[in-house]
Amino acid sequence: MVRSALAGVMLALAVIALTGCGGSPSLTFDQLPPGDPASGAALFARQVNGTPACNTCHTLDGSSHAGPSLQRIGQRAGTAVNGLSAGDYILQSIVQPAAVLTSGFGNLMYGQYRERWTGQQLADVLSFLLTQ
Ligand code: HEC
Repeated sequence: MVRSALAGVMLALAVIALTGCGGSPSLTFDQLPPGDPASGAALFARQVNGTPACNTCHTLDGSSHAGPSLQRIGQRAGTAVNGLSAGDYILQSIVQPAAVLTSGFGNLMYGQYRERWTGQQLADVLSFLLTQ
């Protein structure tokens, strides 16, 4: 009895360790549906499900606001972090913004996009940014 309870606790701890304390398991580009860049362009510029619009903090013209400009992000994303494809780097930047901080910027990005956007919406904004 005691032994099986202990086994249950060990299993629960292993699950927590695997999924990362309370956080969701990481999401990868290939888990998303195909994105629509035109829809992504619109999503970039509006509030969705109570989240701040991306363009509150990001421009696409080279000027920095609270966040770095995303001008040419589609071209530089593939070399930003060793081992991460352009799609996975941009996706990680949106769903786990604190994982890698763009140099010169603090951890100011809103952190609930993964919880509040659908997979389709994430795929759409991602496909839009890949065209930049
Ligand atoms: C409250 C301001 C804020 C909002 C809103 C915001 N971001 Fe950010 N973002 C930042 C900051 C600050 C950074 C730099 C620090 C970091 O890497 O987290 C950043 C970094 C990024 C990067 C990495 C940029 C690079 O040059 O490598 C991407 C991509 C990005 N954001 C996309 C988005 C998208 C898409 C949205 C909307 C879904 C969004 N951000 C909403 C502030 C914001």
